[in-house]
Amino acid sequence: MSEILLDAVDLTKHYGSVEALRGASFQARAGEVTALIGDNGAGKSTLVKCLSGAEQPTSGKILLDGKDVRFDSPTTARRMGIETVYQDLAVAPELDPAANLFLGREIHRKGILGKLGMLDKAEMRRQAIEEFQRLGVTLQSTDVPIGSLSGGQRQSVAVARSVVWASKVVFMDEPTAALGVVQRERVLDVIKKVRDKGIAVVLISHNMPEVLSVADRVEVLRLGKRVARFTGSDTKLEDLVAAMTGALVQEEAA
Ligand SMILES: Nc1ncnc2c1ncn2[C@@H]1O[C@H](COP(=O)(O)OP(=O)(O)O)[C@@H](O)[C@H]1O
Ligand SMILES: [Mg+2]
Repeated sequence: MSEILLDAVDLTKHYGSVEALRGASFQARAGEVTALIGDNGAGKSTLVKCLSGAEQPTSGKILLDGKDVRFDSPTTARRMGIETVYQDLAVAPELDPAANLFLGREIHRKGILGKLGMLDKAEMRRQAIEEFQRLGVTLQSTDVPIGSLSGGQRQSVAVARSVVWASKVVFMDEPTAALGVVQRERVLDVIKKVRDKGIAVVLISHNMPEVLSVADRVEVLRLGKRVARFTGSDTKLEDLVAAMTGALVQEEAA
């Protein structure tokens, strides 16, 4: 088993009087897909937001590579190698796939032209095509606005973007929710490639067959707290469901 890369200990998050997290712990390891599952309202999205800088936990501890960290913004988390893919196909539809890959991190031309803000489109395109190939992302065309590609291709580009920039952790909050069966398989293949690069992939999913097929480990949240953990090969669907519904509790309240 690989080392724990990201370790969240006893996180709480209050939104006014709502306690979205009530002492949630969570761990992700390099080179593994960790599925984060739980019923609606369990706190999955809140946990991911706290671990990717979009929200700050009210209390608790986050360790990255064994060191105490605070993500005061998504930019801070990104700088530390943590990227997030959201379910809602978060791409710029009017830009082509290469431009989407480099969105916010554009390569500028060398010399004075670069200083004047000219982008090195050829270089970005070259690198983008290389990355898409490496990740097995096949696109109908790399020259058209991404809005004209299928949902699966768009989501594959969004996944590729996070992966290209992530050096440690990629969170994916329901990345396949909006996709058909074939497109979903494609995105799952990309996820496996990312894991094989040594990145810790955290997959939130409601789709239990998907979880069982791709996850190396599963952590279950219920009512803002982790209630159970499973290792891929000995995970059964009944156990996941039992943990999500509260019939099975491995970890008692602290
Ligand atoms: N911004 C917010 N303001 C108030 N309550 C919130 C907010 N975000 C989430 N919640 C509440 O926190 C709980 C956990 O929500 P969430 O993290 O979205 O769960 P999940 O992703 O597992 O469905 C829910 O009760 C939800 O209504
Ligand atoms: Mg959610």
